[in-house]
Amino acid sequence: MSKIYASMLSIGAYSPEKRLTNADLEKMVDTTDEWIVKRTGIKERRVAADDQAASDLGAIAARQAIERANLAIGDIDLIIAATLSGDFLFMPSTAAVIAGKLGALNIPAFDALAACSGFIYALATAKAYVESGMASNALIVGAEASSRFMDYSDRSVCVLFGDGAGAAVIGATDDPSKAIADVKISSDGAQWDNLYIDGGSKNPIREGKPHKPFMRMKGNETFKLAVRALSNDVIEILARNNLNASQIAHFVPHQANLRIIKAVGEAIGLREDQVVLTIDRYGNTSAASIPMAINDLYEAKRLKTGDLMLLDAFGGGLTWGSALVRFGGETPR
Ligand code: COA
Repeated sequence: MSKIYASMLSIGAYSPEKRLTNADLEKMVDTTDEWIVKRTGIKERRVAADDQAASDLGAIAARQAIERANLAIGDIDLIIAATLSGDFLFMPSTAAVIAGKLGALNIPAFDALAACSGFIYALATAKAYVESGMASNALIVGAEASSRFMDYSDRSVCVLFGDGAGAAVIGATDDPSKAIADVKISSDGAQWDNLYIDGGSKNPIREGKPHKPFMRMKGNETFKLAVRALSNDVIEILARNNLNASQIAHFVPHQANLRIIKAVGEAIGLREDQVVLTIDRYGNTSAASIPMAINDLYEAKRLKTGDLMLLDAFGGGLTWGSALVRFGGETPR
């Protein structure tokens, strides 16, 4: 019997209509367009409408990914959602809510909780399910409405994040030229306090207790940890697959900070034209940023069947990861 490989069969995404520009933020906090662009590369980000939760954004991206894989909802036999801004605090999972919206019932659905690295954690899990034969067509979704957890008086965080969603179908192939070649995921829970959202059992939200379930981040420390972890990670994943940077068609990094992306690109000697950037338009969309960026490539008709993508992400946990993915979907016409 030939080996089964997991393959990214399709990609889809959705970004909400409402734009929040740097000029808008200048009116809300003590910041400037110049500071934000220079320190992060972000010019604007999207904000979910009042009646849109993370699952609403995710379900739109998911439907597009399923359609582009030429599959029906009934073909999906696993849903994994990655989010740090799920519809509910802990239950139900956002994956279950998305499954309900799609009408994908009686299948496993759960969240991969790894903050901005969530999409790569979901990818690793889906790959294992498909390669072991436990799933045939897994839907993985990164969906964020993180604007709901922004403290719009904290300039160090609120200028960074935006809302959006992306999704991919991970199916089986016997063709290694369309396979997810490798996924590498890691964590360092001893450093959780660099980046978190409060409100769980450690510091629960209770009536009468002033509480702000907002995202908090030690930006500068996180920046340095991210550059170090990601540079080492991409060097290692290339080495263990006997690949070098010139063989990468597209580097699709998590879009947290342009300076982090450039530093990691330089660590492995990537050319500028290999690096996919969406940060200027969407900001940091956490677990959605990688699939949204792959979707941008796809819709620009720059993503061809078999193209080798290098993905990386870093986020709360701390968590980080990288992946080597040969696109298994059809090239858009
Ligand atoms: N506008 C203007 N000034 C700001 C600002 C803003 N929006 N946010 C912070 N500042 C100020 C700080 O108060 C500080 O002022 P001070 O020198 O008077 O104390 C100064 O800018 C420098 O702050 P610092 O935090 O050292 O800036 P930085 O160069 O590290 O950039 C981040 C801040 C958040 C953009 C950057 O650290 C970052 O991107 N961090 C990592 C993000 C990340 O990867 N997260 C993980 C995945 S989500």
